[in-house]
Amino acid sequence: MRDDLSPAQRLLSLLDHLAISRAHIATQLPGDIAELAAATPDRLAGVVLCAPMYLDAGPFTGLANRVLMVSGGSGPSFEMTMRAAARLPGAERHFLDGYEAQTWSDVVADRTAELVDRMLGFLARFPADAPCPPAIAGSHAGISYRIEGSGPALLLLPFFHAPSQWTPAIPLLARQFTVVSLGGRYLGSIALLEDRARAPTYRAMFRTLIDVIAPEPGEAILDVGCGAGSLDRLLAQRLGGANPITAIDLNPFYLKEAEVLAAEEGLAAAIRFLEGGAEALPFPDAAFGAIFSVTVLEECDADRAIMEMVRVVAPGGRIGIIVRSLDLPQWWNLDLPKSIRRKIAQPPRSIAANGVADASFYRRMRRAGLEGLVCFPSLLTLDRPQRPLWRPREDYALSLLTAEELPIWNAARDKAVEDGVLMTSWPFHCAVGTKPRASRQRVSNPQSFIRAHAASIRPRRKYPSVSRIWATTTSIRKHAPISCIAKGNVLSLAKLFAETAHRIATGARRTNAQDSLRYFIGDKLVRGCSIMDAGSMRCEQMRVDASIGCVFRQTINECKASDAVPIGKRRNASIRISQVFNP
Ligand SMILES: C[S@@+](CC[C@H](N)C(=O)[O-])C[C@H]1O[C@@H](n2cnc3c(N)ncnc32)[C@H](O)[C@@H]1O
Repeated sequence: MRDDLSPAQRLLSLLDHLAISRAHIATQLPGDIAELAAATPDRLAGVVLCAPMYLDAGPFTGLANRVLMVSGGSGPSFEMTMRAAARLPGAERHFLDGYEAQTWSDVVADRTAELVDRMLGFLARFPADAPCPPAIAGSHAGISYRIEGSGPALLLLPFFHAPSQWTPAIPLLARQFTVVSLGGRYLGSIALLEDRARAPTYRAMFRTLIDVIAPEPGEAILDVGCGAGSLDRLLAQRLGGANPITAIDLNPFYLKEAEVLAAEEGLAAAIRFLEGGAEALPFPDAAFGAIFSVTVLEECDADRAIMEMVRVVAPGGRIGIIVRSLDLPQWWNLDLPKSIRRKIAQPPRSIAANGVADASFYRRMRRAGLEGLVCFPSLLTLDRPQRPLWRPREDYALSLLTAEELPIWNAARDKAVEDGVLMTSWPFHCAVGTKPRASRQRVSNPQSFIRAHAASIRPRRKYPSVSRIWATTTSIRKHAPISCIAKGNVLSLAKLFAETAHRIATGARRTNAQDSLRYFIGDKLVRGCSIMDAGSMRCEQMRVDASIGCVFRQTINECKASDAVPIGKRRNASIRISQVFNP
């Protein structure tokens, strides 16, 4: 089957295949049927737009009096259908009172009886054919179908992320209609997710995420909120079977489609799909070496989901997360007046009560204890208006425009097409963090802790200039595993200190200065000088904060030498730890 057919071409071909000349149709994504409605309105009887989030009224004007728009009593679908109603005189609206539909809402499951009742009453007014299908289930023109009931044909197209899709309503609708449930990779959100995963800039963003995560061969990888498994298939191809991949989602509809798509690409054995929720991952602690999650944390309790990922990743494991960004503008490469530009720069505000879709995401990652954050806000650019993902974006922009603004948009769009520069970009927040190898629980008695470890804190001959080490009594940073005042050659002290702290933190018997410095501070520059450069400063008295690599002046008077614990007989070195965090 050709990949470049439009949804309208596929649906028309399917209608012919099922011998239906005129059918009722219902969808949450009006873009899937827009071209059909505009070009061949006579093939459609009643049209139900169920909680649409992206709706350009234009293609439906020719059959407005056969359109029923169902929306939440408030929220994005309410506002969307309200704006559309102004351009669709004759269309009916139905509000689900007290309900706020989002792209992930399980609308049909939540309001089955009310919805079915309204649909039955509305659709009964328009004549449609009973189909004469060659089979009760199958696939045609890239669309899978399943047929139940008898009577006039009612095509049910997939919802966005609704876990139950149309399922709860089907037995009730099938009493009066021949219900034809449609699916497959070319309709609904599967088409959108698949298309997104094909966009070169989206792939680049995901590739960077995986580059930074840098999976080691054999490391188990978890994808939280896998959807259709589009990214898992990309990853499986990239890793060539070197890593077991587990993908979870709370949506059984997606999981079923994901398995079919993986099998179609010969990747069934490479990815394990499981049902599960991000806020309570069904895995033991430290079960994975790396975890990623892409555009999921907008829809759930983001902080709980991050904490769960931290729990199930192993110490030293990486967690890479991408979320949409509602705090950065989206951009259309169109020559438009400022007033229109301002309107369309605002991304659709779809976010759950405890979801995250702004820069607070980075702080949340840090607060969850992840270290060495690599943050890279990125842009996804679309430049193919005929591709599935484009349609909802433009439908959304069009829905915001007044009747006077629409011709201005169209003229600017035509010009961009003529110049070959039609494109739009939307932003994402992306970050990868590492779970520390040592957990940071405070030791109740730091002095006895350091005494217990005194044997391992022995200056080595390699550092002859070490004379004394004291721990600072003041201004210890909360996250520092150990902090101390050091006097002498700062480079040597820094190295010694890092090695010691590294051994205590990890329980390693042998460490070397390079690895230890890397363990605590990476290559980060702090306060303008790296710990490696500090040696040349030869300051008399320095405070060394190994966990963040700070090396800075502090007066020795702040220390109480009497509190110091001896740490090396020959060198007369001592250390007093004010705060130690248990490995
Ligand atoms: C926008 S899709 C992204 C899918 C996939 N990560 C991708 O980028 O192609 C969001 C997915 O998150 C899933 N999801 C939302 N909340 C979830 C939760 N609490 N636990 C697991 N999955 C969740 C939805 O079912 C949906 O499949």
